[in-house]
Amino acid sequence: MIPASVIEDLRYRCDIESVISSYVSLKRAGSNLKGLCPFHSEKTPSFTVYPETQSFYCFGCGAGGDVINFVMRTENLDYRAAIETLAKRAGITLPDDGEYQRSDGVTRTRVLQMNLEAAKFYRKMLFDDNMGAAGRRYFIDRGLSMMAIKRFGLGYSPPSGNRMLNHLTSLGFKPQEIQTAYFAGKSERGYYDYFRGRVMFPIIDVSGNVIAFGGRVLDDTKPKYLNTSDTPAFKKSRNLFALNYAKNTDAGYFILCEGYMDVIALHDAGFGMAVATLGTALTDDQARTIKKYTGKVVISYDSDEAGQKATARAIDLLEKAGLETKVLHMEGAKDPDEYIKKFGKEKFRSLIEESRSKFDYVLENTMKKYDLANDAEKIRALSEICTYIAGIHSSVERDIYSDRTAKAFSVDRKSLETDVNARIRKLSREYDKKRRGELIRITSGLADRVNPDYAKQPKAARIEESLLGILFIHPEYCMRPVDNVPLSTADFTTELGRRLFAKVAEANGHFTLGLLGEDFTPEEVSRAGGMVAARNELSDNSEAAYDTFVRSLRKETVKQGNSSDSLEDILRRKRGELS
Ligand code: CTP
Ligand code: MN
Repeated sequence: MIPASVIEDLRYRCDIESVISSYVSLKRAGSNLKGLCPFHSEKTPSFTVYPETQSFYCFGCGAGGDVINFVMRTENLDYRAAIETLAKRAGITLPDDGEYQRSDGVTRTRVLQMNLEAAKFYRKMLFDDNMGAAGRRYFIDRGLSMMAIKRFGLGYSPPSGNRMLNHLTSLGFKPQEIQTAYFAGKSERGYYDYFRGRVMFPIIDVSGNVIAFGGRVLDDTKPKYLNTSDTPAFKKSRNLFALNYAKNTDAGYFILCEGYMDVIALHDAGFGMAVATLGTALTDDQARTIKKYTGKVVISYDSDEAGQKATARAIDLLEKAGLETKVLHMEGAKDPDEYIKKFGKEKFRSLIEESRSKFDYVLENTMKKYDLANDAEKIRALSEICTYIAGIHSSVERDIYSDRTAKAFSVDRKSLETDVNARIRKLSREYDKKRRGELIRITSGLADRVNPDYAKQPKAARIEESLLGILFIHPEYCMRPVDNVPLSTADFTTELGRRLFAKVAEANGHFTLGLLGEDFTPEEVSRAGGMVAARNELSDNSEAAYDTFVRSLRKETVKQGNSSDSLEDILRRKRGELS
């Protein structure tokens, strides 16, 4: 069996949008993508891809799942073969089954101990007269102050030998543990140092633990960075570089950048509220982490195309997490590090002050994309912006934006509004249609072959599906106590619900829909995909919704059960207060 963490890692590297795009022509529709379903024949697109949850669902035929399920279906492969196909596409060699177990038995504590020792060792190497000369030279050439080097605990991994391996072994760690913590790799000739000849950036969590490392080469060799992959002490999709410092600033906002060097340069220039993701696109988890510490984010990604694309995606995720989001616009430099070197920190400060809201960003980008001197193109640009405005809930915001757009395009404000309103009506018609389809599907429980128990207790079954939809997106909620007791299989009334929940719980926070491919039928996987899709269509707070659904499910279970116990009694029994 391939462990959940490996599957999750694979899924992160195989972006659903790019994989599906090689089979289906997708068009953007708000924060989602739409296309003609590859699994049934249709004329209007009902096949939807949700980049945020990395899932797809077809409102026409009900096919759904994640990137693994997609490949299974389109290529007609079994679970294992689909994973191999994706691994190949991502350029990953899947080790033998045996090797997946390497993290078994190695605890978070052990990894943290190794990390701390390693950080000290790399730092010692950096300041070692002979050993560290190249590393020190590199940092000096990049303009880092001694203060920054110390503050970030930067280090250097020696270019040859197995010094780290030997060092950790001498401290009593076993080679296999050292490999799990990503300080050693293993070849036919045995274990060897994973990081060599690289300047080292420790990643420190909010409690001050060293949880991982990034290591950069000193020249242009590839790969430029090597990073610790997920270990029992680290999950790169949940952590941010320099969050340990940024959380203590009181600027009222964070600056989100792409790279370690950007963050360090910014901190050195006095912008201690800068953080970065760790070599991956921003995730939902990271957005929610940021929300814990601040209410506003200024995105300062690289000015190249990739950076701009990532910006668009980050805006959606951050706003969904409830953060006010602005975009910093940089010209004449590729990233914040270079910008500050070239123009100085005061100039950068004015960029922050001038950073634009999401709407300004959309407006400007759209105007740039089209040749506005050409009537047809101008109309297309306006239509894109109207669609965007129509998707905004607040009528006050819509008013302000309509006004701004009318001015920017020098068109009549009234006719623009008429356009926007027509689009709003169209959107809600589409939505109603979708919902109606959904409702028919749900209430036709009698004919439900995928979940035959549905009809027995439709109300409870419906709640179960909503709950599972949330859990598939936030598997960590599994552990979340509601009225002191976490959800358990006993709370479920349908067999399918129970099995799905057991699978999520078993994955220990590493759940992805793809995992279902192993022991659920394609129809069951699709059903799960539908639960995620239904959740994606909502924007309320998942955490609060989760609690509410758990409570209502328990109420239903009590109502149905023949016992005379009250809900309160049952909960108390679970907590062990009654016997
Ligand atoms: N990254 C990575 N692996 C690579 C390239 C980049 O993990 N092969 C990650 C690193 O976390 C890096 C970030 O993506 O910090 C952004 O990449 P880049 O802009 O190239 O890195 P910088 O930190 O700006 O590094 P430098 O300025 O030294 O090139
Ligand atoms: Mn850079």
